[in-house]
Formats: sequence, C-alpha cells, structure tokens
Amino acid sequence: MRLRILAMLTLSIVLFFSCKGSKEKPAPKPVQEKLVYEPSKYVVGFSQCTFEDPWRINMNKEMEEAASAHTDVQIKLVISNGENRNAKQIADVENFGTMGVNFLIISPREAAPLTPAVEKIYDAGIPVIVLDRKILSDKYTVFIGASNLEIGREAGKYIAEKLGGKGNIVEIEGILGATPTQERSQGFHEVIDKYPEIKVVYKQPGDYKRSLARQVMENALQAFGKIDAVYAHNDEMMIGAFLAARVAGREKGMVFVGIDGQKEAVDLIRQGLLSATFVYPNGAKEAIEAGLKIMKGEKVDKDIQLPTIRITKDEALDYKGF
Ligand code: FRU
Repeated sequence: MRLRILAMLTLSIVLFFSCKGSKEKPAPKPVQEKLVYEPSKYVVGFSQCTFEDPWRINMNKEMEEAASAHTDVQIKLVISNGENRNAKQIADVENFGTMGVNFLIISPREAAPLTPAVEKIYDAGIPVIVLDRKILSDKYTVFIGASNLEIGREAGKYIAEKLGGKGNIVEIEGILGATPTQERSQGFHEVIDKYPEIKVVYKQPGDYKRSLARQVMENALQAFGKIDAVYAHNDEMMIGAFLAARVAGREKGMVFVGIDGQKEAVDLIRQGLLSATFVYPNGAKEAIEAGLKIMKGEKVDKDIQLPTIRITKDEALDYKGF
C-alpha cells in the first residue's frame, strides 16, 4: 500500500514537471528594433484668462511659435479668450473637454472659481498644464511658473534698500483671487514688515490694469502728502501709478517697482523715470514642451519653476522686454 502511494506520488510529480516544462514559453528575445517616434497630430487647448494686456498677448504669440516649431509633430493650438471673466473661462474649459483635446493648458483668472472645471477635465483623463496662476487643488499634471513669493521678497528688499529703511509705500495689488497677487504681497510683506519705520500706507487692488491703478494712485496721492515708493504687482499698474504721480507733479524721487519686464516699463527704467521690474516669464514654450513629453509617455516634474531677473537702470542691460 505504502509503495503504491509512493509510486503514484512520484508519477504525479514527474508529470507535473514535464507538463510545466512543455508549457513554458521560450525566453523573450531582447528588443532589437529602435523605437521610431511616429509623426502625430495633437489638438491642444489653451484657456487664456484674458487677451487684454501686453504680457498675455506676448504669451499667446510665444505659445503659437512653440507649437509650430516642431517638425515631427503637428500641433493644432486653439487659444480661447476668457475675457477676464471667470464664468467665460469656465465655459471655455468645458468646451475643450467636449472637443476632447489631447491636453489642456490653462492660465486661470482666479484660483477658486476655476478649480472645479480643471478638476473635471483632469478626472476625465485629459492631462492639464497650469501656467502662472495656480488652482486650489493638486488635480493637474504640471504647474509651470516663476516664484511669486521670491519676486515679492526681492521687491521688498529692493524698496527697503532704496528707502534706506524709512518711508511710506503704496502697494497696488493685482486681482485678489489670483495666486500671484497673494504670493507677491506675502513675499513683499515678509521683508518690509520687519522695518519699523517703513509703512504700507495704502494698499488697494488695481486688478493688473493700468487705468485702475492710475485711479488708485490718484486716491493715494490725495490721501497722503508723503509717498516714497510704489510697489505695483505688475508693470502695467506701475506705469499707471507713475502717470498719476506725474500729473500731480510728485513723481520725482519716488521709487516705482513693478513686475513682468514689459518693454515700455524697461524703456522708462533705462531713462531713469522708473526704478525696477522683475522679469516674469510666461512659460508658454515650456508648456508646449511639457505637453509633448506627456504625450510621448515621458516623465515630467509636477512643478516646473522658471527663473526671474531684476531689471534696473544699469542691470541686465541686454534684456529687451516684450
Ligand atoms: C497679465 C498679468 C501679468 C502678471 C500676471 C499674473 O494678465 O496680469 O501682468 O504678471 O498676469 O498672473
């Protein structure tokens, strides 16, 4: 009995291994052929928050140039104009979802209102590249932008130095619900609030618009007899503030600092009429590059930080602006 069991057991083991052996596939050969990247067509949606100012117009132009610079892929870039209204931009994003774009690039007007629309696109499997202004969620593929916190700090250091640690400042803010506004202010105050003899006497939004900033500055000039510096969250607003001060005959000796690196501002800086600006790169080219990498299945960092430089009368003399 014992012997029979032993024999059956041996037989089944032999059978098991012989069957297994016969089923085994030959080891896969190493892939010899090179991967050839097939020419492809991509439809890319770019939801731009507004076409109103030079920085945005330049961003659109650079994005179009970047999209047509590729010979191995065909990119059909569709740019929508959010008309500086959250509701319009939300509709634009939904529209790109319906179109089924290969990837979406968005520079959201304000963070909170645009967040659900972006999340919805991302959840539907469309890669999303967020540019310059952030959303309030991590449901995006890549964020590309310069550090507004750092720019704010640098602006604070520059103004504090120019004022010799003493004086009255007017701060003209951008759109309040846009993250660059919040970060440009936060970084600035981290530095400036440490100086007991420096005061931000007037702080109002100019919504990144020259005309509104001009009005803000007119009000500030009426309210305060002594204004030593203006920190504007972009160059358009710095120019608006400068024009108001000039009409009032009070621009001389006043320190004007802006952000963007807009050509008109740079020219006024070189003439010594304005003090400084910080170049704020738009990330258009980087967004197209990142999108193509995602399409090819390559890994892309979730946060791509772009550099900034300070422009004054005698710094970065080769910088031209836009
Ligand atoms: C343009 C703009 C720029 C600014 C950026 C901030 O619409 O206001 O001037 O640097 O947006 O997001």
